[in-house]
Amino acid sequence: MDFSHVEADLAKTLITEEELHAKLQELAREIEADYEGKDLLLVGVLRGAVMVMADLARALQRHIEMDWMAVSSYGSGTVSSGVVRILKDLDSDLTGRNVLIVEDIIDSGLTLSWLRANLESRGAASVEICTMLRKPDALKVQVDVKYCGFDIPNEFVIGYGLDYAEKYRNLRGIGVLAPHVYSGE
Ligand code: PRP
Repeated sequence: MDFSHVEADLAKTLITEEELHAKLQELAREIEADYEGKDLLLVGVLRGAVMVMADLARALQRHIEMDWMAVSSYGSGTVSSGVVRILKDLDSDLTGRNVLIVEDIIDSGLTLSWLRANLESRGAASVEICTMLRKPDALKVQVDVKYCGFDIPNEFVIGYGLDYAEKYRNLRGIGVLAPHVYSGE
């Protein structure tokens, strides 16, 4: 879906599809160089990371494997507590593997900081993080991110996997949601 279909719901467009894809090419070259001669397992975190995972995997000019996790953070509404429950675990054994967690966004950092520790405890050779977006002003815990697409302001963003009430995930670019969409709740 293009921006033109959701114009009334957006405060502004933030990142276009072209900018996202150009950034993924940059990240893919860095990843290829860093993991040269090593195996690489991409771990996508459902559901938001589906788009980044699909595009990053195809941008990489090398063999990779893909696996998926679904997690849910306990907490009330939009406030994340940092306690994470695994809804769907990996199928892969991580012993000795080079794991790259692929995410759409790091907000408070609580999910990723828990996830990284969890995957490290399974005997992986390395665990790094690649995220398309990061909100520096929303961080509650420091997360060491090796590959980051864009640092963005602390606003309600949707598109490219990111939802509001499960909508907008299929928007090709990333936009800031207009307050009237969520203030009427
Ligand atoms: C988003 C995102 C991360 C998490 C980041 O997922 O994909 O997993 O929130 O937030 P944090 O840094 O504050 O922990 P969400 O819980 O919205 O689920 P979804 O991917 O299914 O949309």
